[in-house]
Amino acid sequence: LLLLLLHLHLHKLKLSTSELHLRSPKAAPSPTTFFEVTRPVPSSNSSCSLLLLQHDFASTYSKPPATASYAPPRCLRRHLRRRSPVRAVLEWSAACRGRQFDRIFGVWLGGVELLRSCTAEPRPAGILWTVRKDVTKYSSLFASPQTLAVYLGNLVDSTYTGIYHVNVSLHFYFDSALAGASSHRRPPAFTSPADLVLPISRNLPLDDGLWFPIQNSTDVQSKHLAIPRNAYRAVVEVYISFHQDDEFWYTNPPDSYISANNFTGVPGNGAFREVTVRLDGEVVGAVWPFTVIYTGGINPLLWRPITGIGSFDLPSYDIEITPFLGKILDGQPHEFGFGVTDALDVWYVDANLHLWLDSQSSYSVGNLIKHEAPDFTPTVVSQFKGPDGKFMTSANRRISSTGWVKSSYGKITTHFFQRLNYENLMVFAANGSSQAVNQTIDSNYGTFTKNPSSVLYSEEVFQTFPLYVYTGNTDQTNDTYSTVVNVSLEFDEKRISGERFGFSFSNLRNLQTAEGNMTVKGNLVTSGIGSTQQVYRYESTDGCYFRNVSSSNYTILFDESEKSCTESASVSSGNFFTEWSTFPARGTYYASEEN
Ligand SMILES: *[C@@H]1O[C@H](CO)[C@@H](O)[C@H](O)[C@H]1NC(C)=O
Ligand SMILES: *[C@@H]1O[C@H](CO)[C@@H](O)[C@H](O)[C@H]1NC(C)=O
Ligand SMILES: *[C@@H]1O[C@H](CO)[C@@H](O)[C@H](O)[C@H]1NC(C)=O
Ligand SMILES: *[C@@H]1O[C@H](CO)[C@@H](O)[C@H](O)[C@H]1NC(C)=O
Ligand SMILES: *[C@@H]1O[C@H](CO)[C@@H](O)[C@H](O)[C@H]1NC(C)=O
Ligand SMILES: *[C@@H]1O[C@H](CO)[C@@H](O)[C@H](O)[C@H]1NC(C)=O
Ligand SMILES: *[C@@H]1O[C@H](CO)[C@@H](O)[C@H](O)[C@H]1NC(C)=O
Ligand SMILES: *[C@@H]1O[C@H](CO)[C@@H](O)[C@H](O)[C@H]1NC(C)=O
Ligand SMILES: *[C@@H]1O[C@H](CO)[C@@H](O)[C@H](O)[C@H]1NC(C)=O
Ligand SMILES: *[C@@H]1O[C@H](CO)[C@@H](O)[C@H](O)[C@H]1NC(C)=O
Ligand SMILES: *[C@@H]1O[C@H](CO)[C@@H](O)[C@H](O)[C@H]1NC(C)=O
Repeated sequence: LLLLLLHLHLHKLKLSTSELHLRSPKAAPSPTTFFEVTRPVPSSNSSCSLLLLQHDFASTYSKPPATASYAPPRCLRRHLRRRSPVRAVLEWSAACRGRQFDRIFGVWLGGVELLRSCTAEPRPAGILWTVRKDVTKYSSLFASPQTLAVYLGNLVDSTYTGIYHVNVSLHFYFDSALAGASSHRRPPAFTSPADLVLPISRNLPLDDGLWFPIQNSTDVQSKHLAIPRNAYRAVVEVYISFHQDDEFWYTNPPDSYISANNFTGVPGNGAFREVTVRLDGEVVGAVWPFTVIYTGGINPLLWRPITGIGSFDLPSYDIEITPFLGKILDGQPHEFGFGVTDALDVWYVDANLHLWLDSQSSYSVGNLIKHEAPDFTPTVVSQFKGPDGKFMTSANRRISSTGWVKSSYGKITTHFFQRLNYENLMVFAANGSSQAVNQTIDSNYGTFTKNPSSVLYSEEVFQTFPLYVYTGNTDQTNDTYSTVVNVSLEFDEKRISGERFGFSFSNLRNLQTAEGNMTVKGNLVTSGIGSTQQVYRYESTDGCYFRNVSSSNYTILFDESEKSCTESASVSSGNFFTEWSTFPARGTYYASEEN
């Protein structure tokens, strides 16, 4: 008999343990390759590669991260000297065999997080997977020696035998046609990588990841940082993952329901969560995160070999803090903090501070003009009788800031806004043995930048994260029950940006639907199946990508992809930007070049 490991968290009401074994009918003869559907990272033959770390993660839980020294390879130094464009790609490749959980891990260079990810759960015959991530935006780090750190908290014993064998590499590509980053452009730069990236994470040495663990709603974790006085632009990039009692926060019922039914061990606090980003105690931005489902989540058979959206490369979230620069250009340390509204143990949060520096001057000055981040409370409408009931949770919030910074590039005014919307309908039925969650998060955010005579740069992003999770338990006799699950998970994102040099647009629709069932006896899944369909459609001014793939029970049913597709939608007017009218811009969107 072969045993596979699963996490089963949704049946919190029925099951106190989250660990189950699956008795799989047959062994796969050779290793299975797991993958996340995403568009390929552009590459070329003009490249150089560097193996950063080769490590076996066995009993690494609560141990120091694996570390290695990075030094810029000669091929890169040559290109950096010529200031020619470079695209950087981080590659994680791993193999594992046996039984093991899905483990969260992080990759940091100089304390800056490059990748947050989750391992795939192995099979007895072994699995392989590779993650390739464009890390060009961290280019400034690659120019000097750094310490690489990888934390993957794994435990190995006679039952959980899987050791993760990992290679971490960096590839640099030099074809100018491939360079997404326009490093040749004159500053002020809005689409080029930052000149400096500072970590807002915990320092080595430590016996954990460099992320801050956030354990409850009042827990605010922070770090003090002094930034160079000649910064003229700043963006906080936040990395987030949620675990244990909040791994499925969007399925957590209100406490009133839990206590009325005397459910013990059921995580509560309702289904809404918000990650706040604070500067010197003030909320400067918020993240309503995408509901990443890890490779062991809900019904692990759904994610084999197609893994859940974002599970191999968790999204990070950008908060523009340029409007606040005037407050922190004094050369003194300032506090960058994170909190999670209604958090249950535990959230892992850290961030990277991307800074653009004025090479012509040793200091900039600035001032905040306006900042609005009104308090809000999610509304919850509860309707329940015994274990059956309905809960509607909704929330919305707006955050905005406007400020100017004066550098040798002139006096530049930046406006940043976020509009966030959340709806969650949760229905318990059949004496609480089934739960349906239908949730949508909408995030609309953008940055507008101008100098006194013209608009310099605008970017606006629309994200929609629809989620549907149904779990139903049936046939409960003694210690055996069956469970049926349906999942629909979607990550949609439209991005539009424009500057003096051009205009870019992208539209991603990435949808997974999955169905599965399993019969569980005690801790053993005695039978089960999981099927997943995914359609990934990306269109942009830089090209497009389409993939339509489906798997069932470890077998790919079909897999169609196209690297080129029809012309993407052309948008030619600045009116597209929703906050255009509220931003006091003089001149037209395509402002003329400076003389
Ligand atoms: C890269 O090299 C391969 C094999 O040498 C060749 O087939 C391919 O055309 C090259 N691609 C580019 C973009 O030069
Ligand atoms: C790691 O690299 C070594 C040496 O190149 C190779 O033998 C091994 O198969 C690689 N492992 C993975 C998981 O890619
Ligand atoms: C919240 O977490 C912090 C940090 O672990 C801890 O000090 C504090 O006691 C906790 N508060 C509550 C109410 O549990
Ligand atoms: C919950 O527990 C309380 C006190 O033990 C008891 O009075 C009540 O009847 C219980 N309710 C249910 C729904 O079991
Ligand atoms: C719910 O439980 C009650 C009492 O145990 C039982 O009478 C009823 O048939 C159950 N309903 C369903 C839909 O299972
Ligand atoms: C979820 O809710 C949305 C909006 O109310 C609705 O359009 C959709 O059909 C629902 N999905 C499911 C699976 O019930
Ligand atoms: C439940 O377990 C008991 C004791 O092991 C057994 O006698 C009984 O037949 C089982 N019932 C069912 C429906 O399997
Ligand atoms: C679950 O999915 C199946 C197959 O797509 C469908 O027939 C069924 O109605 C769905 N059930 C729920 C509760 O969403
Ligand atoms: C699980 O799904 C398969 C295929 O749809 C079906 O044949 C089987 O009866 C289902 N098993 C359970 C326990 O629902
Ligand atoms: C995906 O492929 C399947 C099987 O060929 C087909 O039925 C389905 O319509 C395709 N979906 C899209 C969006 O192209
Ligand atoms: C699922 O896979 C197992 C093992 O490969 C096989 O025995 C079983 O028949 C499959 N079930 C379905 C419904 O395809």
